Order: sequence, then C-alpha cells, then structure tokens
Amino acid sequence: MKKYTTVILSAVIVILAALLVGILIFLKNQPIQQRATEPLVKISAFEPDSSIWGLNFPNQYDSLLKTKLNKEDTEFGGSSKFSWLERDPRQLLLFGGYAFSKEYNDDRGHEWSLEDVRNSKRVTDKTPGSCYSCKSSNNPGIWNKIGLEEFSKMPFAELGKQIDQPIGCANCHEAGTMRLIVTNPAVIAGFEAQGIDWTKFTRQEMRTVVCANCHDEYYMAGENKVLTMPWKNGTKIENILAYYEENQFKDWEYPEAGTPMLKAQHPDFETFTADSTHFKAGVACADCHMPYVRDGSAKYSMHDIHSPLLNAELACGACHTDVGYVVTRVSEIQEQVSTTKISTEDAIIDAITAIKSAAANSSSDPVLLDKARLLHRKAQFMWDFVSAENSMGFHNPEYTLKILADSTNYARQAQMLASQAANDPSLLVIGVYDSMK
Ligand code: HEC
Ligand code: HEC
Ligand code: HEC
Ligand code: HEC
Repeated sequence: MKKYTTVILSAVIVILAALLVGILIFLKNQPIQQRATEPLVKISAFEPDSSIWGLNFPNQYDSLLKTKLNKEDTEFGGSSKFSWLERDPRQLLLFGGYAFSKEYNDDRGHEWSLEDVRNSKRVTDKTPGSCYSCKSSNNPGIWNKIGLEEFSKMPFAELGKQIDQPIGCANCHEAGTMRLIVTNPAVIAGFEAQGIDWTKFTRQEMRTVVCANCHDEYYMAGENKVLTMPWKNGTKIENILAYYEENQFKDWEYPEAGTPMLKAQHPDFETFTADSTHFKAGVACADCHMPYVRDGSAKYSMHDIHSPLLNAELACGACHTDVGYVVTRVSEIQEQVSTTKISTEDAIIDAITAIKSAAANSSSDPVLLDKARLLHRKAQFMWDFVSAENSMGFHNPEYTLKILADSTNYARQAQMLASQAANDPSLLVIGVYDSMK
C-alpha cells in the first residue's frame, strides 16, 4: 500500500512539474504585449486607406503621418522641395530640351507623394498613368484589377480619378500577414528577368527590397509607356547601359546636338546594392531610414522616413558607437562627390557645345559625329545616375566616384571627337559654362 502511495505521489509531482514547465514555456512564447496593437479590424486585401490599417497599428500609422510635417533640410538632402535647377544651374543646360529643365525639385516625405506629382510642371495632357506608379497606395489594388499595361497607358488625368491616397501601408505590406512584399509588377518582372524569385528573399533582404518597389531606375517602354526596370542584364550601371543600347531606347533628343538622350531616375536600390560596404555587411535601407523606436514597452519601426542625418543617434547609433565620427564621414564623402559631380557637369557642357557646333557644320564627318553623340549619351547617363541618386554618394561612395570619373572621361572624348569630326580645334575650348556667366 505504502509503495503505491509513493508511486502515485511521485507521478503527481512529475505531472505538476511538467505542467509548470509547460505553462512557463507557453507564457515565454507569447508575443510581447504591444499597446493597442490587438487586431481591432480585419484589413481587406489591398486596402488603400492607411488610416484603417492604423486602427490596428497606431504607432506605425502615426509615424507615417509625420512624413507630412518634416521640413528640415541637410547640406545635400532633407525634406523641403528645394529646386535643383536653382541650386545647380548647370542642370538647366544638361537637361536642355527636356521637361526636367522646367522643374526639378528635391524629394520630400511619403505623405506628399500624390500632391507633388499632381502639382509637377512636368505633368501635361500627354502624361501617361505610368507616372502614378510610385505615388499611391491605391496602386496595388488597381494593378490587381486591370494589370500594369492598362494602368500605364491610361491618361494621367483619367487614372487619377481612381487615386486618392498617397504612399501607404498597402505599398509595402500584405494585409493580414503584414509581411513585407513586392507590390510593383514592374519590379517583380525586373527580378524575374534576372532569374530572381522575390519571394525567396530573407526578411532582412526584404527590408531593402521593399524600397525597390519605387526607389530604382526605370523607363517607360513602348507606345503604352509600360513601367519597366532595365535589369535584364543585371543592376550595375554597365548592365543598365547595355540594356538601353540593346533596346535603342531614348528619353529625348538633345536640341541642335542631335544626341539620343537617357534620363536616369533615382537608382537608390541599384547604387546601394552594388557591393557598398553597408550592403555587403548585411545592412538594409530600413536599418538607417526606419530605426526602431520605443513607445513605453512597445518597440516599433519608425515609419517617419527621412534623411538619417536628422536623427543620427537613432539611425546610426544602433551599430556605430562614435556617431559624431560617422556623421562627419558622411559630409566629407558628400562634399567630395558634389565637387566631382560639378567637374563632370562642366565636361559634359563642353562636349554639348562642341557637338552642337560640329552638327551645324555641314562638312563634319557624320561617322565621327555619331561616335561623339554616343559618348555624350553615355557620359550624361552616368552623371545622372549619380545626380538623380538621392544620397550624394553616401550609399556607395567608391562606386559613385568611379562612375563620375568614367563619365568625365567619356564627355572629354566626346568633345575631342566632335572637334575631329568638324576638323576644328577651336571646339576643344574648355570651361564654357564659366565663360557664359
Ligand atoms: C548606412 C545607412 C543607410 C542605408 C543602409 C541607406 N541609406 Fe539612404 N541615406 C543615408 C544617408 C546618410 C543619406 C544622406 C541624407 C542627407 O544627405 O541628408 C541618405 C539619403 C537617402 C535619400 C534622400 C533623403 C533626403 O533627405 O532627400 C533617400 C531617398 C534614401 N537615402 C533612400 C534609401 C534607400 C532606398 C536605401 C536602400 C536601397 C537606403 N537609402 C539605404 C543612409 C542610408
Ligand atoms: C510606393 C513607392 C515608394 C516606396 C515603396 C518607398 N518610397 Fe521612398 N519615396 C517615394 C516617393 C515618390 C518619394 C518622394 C515624395 C515627394 O517628394 O513627394 C519618396 C521619398 C523618400 C525619402 C525622402 C524623404 C524626405 O523627407 O526628403 C526617403 C528618405 C525615402 N523615400 C526612403 C524610402 C525607404 C527607405 C523606403 C523603403 C523602406 C521607401 N522610401 C519606400 C516612393 C516610395
Ligand atoms: C515604405 C514601406 C512601408 C510602408 C509604407 C509601411 N511600412 Fe510598415 N514596415 C516597413 C518595414 C521595412 C518594416 C520592418 C519590417 C521588418 O523588420 O521585418 C515595417 C514594419 C511594420 C510592422 C512590424 C512591427 C514594426 O514596427 O517593426 C508593422 C505592424 C507595420 N510595419 C505596420 C505598418 C502600417 C500600419 C503601415 C501604414 C500605416 C505601414 N506599416 C506602412 C515598411 C513599410
Ligand atoms: C545595422 C548596422 C549599421 C547601421 C544602422 C549603420 N551602419 Fe555604418 N557600418 C556598419 C558596418 C557593419 C560597417 C562596416 C565596417 C565596420 O564593421 O565598421 C559600417 C561602416 C560604415 C562606415 C565606413 C565605411 C567604409 O567604407 O569604410 C561609415 C562612414 C558608416 N558606416 C556610416 C554610417 C552612418 C552615417 C550611419 C547612419 C546613417 C550608419 N553607418 C548606420 C553597420 C551599420
């Protein structure tokens, strides 16, 4: 009898102990209590209205709204929409004959996207719907319904009737799961063209790729102006240039010079991922632009995306102990890139001047002149790849400076060939821009 009691008692103790361990494990694995983040509403697929998502995730929503209030500028960036044409008037000449010489403003917060595209002087009756592609959280739903081609070719004004939201949750998250996703069909196609299936990216990789929904180089292909990423050969600048040559694409023709020109968009993703130190170390866009912040006991990603120099302690301090040092490095890098960029601009302006003269001279050698034009096209695209990128070189300093060096070299070669084509050494004059002032 005594033996049985001992066995039963031992069994009860073991069961109680197992139960206790079980309860402890269960409690430990519960998600950290987040204030007011119980799913209050069910969010339907492609929900364009961020305020509805905001009912479940008030911290993320409130911080997203702050992108509307930022106004502070930094030396080379920041959140006001200052005019690049006023800051750097050489660009008026570089974009001669093209809409970017009418208006070219710096970017600002995500909440402004819709207003800014609608008020752009570059928008005309002929503007395609394509130009809404990176501006609105209505897009994922519309793409799902009518597809990219219909979306792209619809006139801007007509498509605009279906669009009433700036950039929002649906541009980056899948409703329900909240995972980060590629929502832009042109970007999905751009990855597929390189044999990449975006769904295989890791969570850390997605913290960069989600920005590539919009922050990359693109063009509008064919009559229907279909948004397309020039990534078939890869995303390095030489791959992209080769792609445009294969497709004989041009954005406009430079007046009087006759050069078929390319406009670079904002290749932040391509530049950052071209083996930059941070990219190779596994750092993502969101690490610097969306640092974690605390609200009481809850930790969340700051959705108030802006220049990390405005909150360097948070943005860089998570990894760098000496924040003052790295911030100084940023300004040294940007200063170098900015100065080098101006020299490149001077070289391209000298080339344009020479090509114009050679083109006006009926006895110029047409073969040499065409060679000069191709070098001008290449030089300008490379310069613009750096200029249109948003970090003044910081995202990848060595790569950026190498591109500017190559660009200057091509521009000077273009000028020499134009001079040869016209058999006129006076076309080798340099410093045209300074002599115009
Ligand atoms: C290591 C930190 C870091 C990473 C990673 C990073 N950035 Fe930046 N980014 C910066 C800094 C610093 C600047 C310069 C800000 C300035 O000049 O005010 C900048 C500038 C920008 C700007 C212009 C901001 C402005 O004020 O106009 C954009 C847009 C941007 N980055 C997007 C991206 C994207 C997209 C990625 C990923 C593909 C990325 N960044 C990765 C640090 C980073
Ligand atoms: C749906 C398209 C889209 C996505 C996705 C997107 N951006 Fe942007 N981003 C834009 C547009 C458009 C602007 C310029 C808005 C304007 O000037 O009105 C912008 C502006 C910015 C700026 C400048 C803000 C300022 O105050 O000057 C930064 C920095 C930036 N984005 C970083 C990022 C990062 C980092 C990611 C990824 C986490 C990202 N963006 C994802 C479209 C997008
Ligand atoms: C420009 C892209 C972008 C937009 C727009 C965006 N998010 Fe995020 N969101 C991110 C990124 C990047 C993360 C970090 C995800 C990770 O680390 O896995 C994130 C994380 C989150 C998380 C996980 C917890 C956290 O804070 O890290 C929630 C919840 C969330 N976002 C909600 C929202 C809501 C709600 C909206 C709209 C009000 C929104 N997001 C808009 C890019 C975006
Ligand atoms: C998620 C971590 C992380 C964040 C956030 C981060 N860095 Fe870094 N940074 C690194 C790593 C890793 C390296 C590689 C060298 C090293 O180990 O120090 C690096 C290197 C650098 C270097 C030296 C680059 C070179 O080529 O030698 C500079 C400058 C720098 N970071 C600036 C910044 C600035 C400015 C910010 C904030 C805007 C920032 N970093 C944010 C991780 C980070």
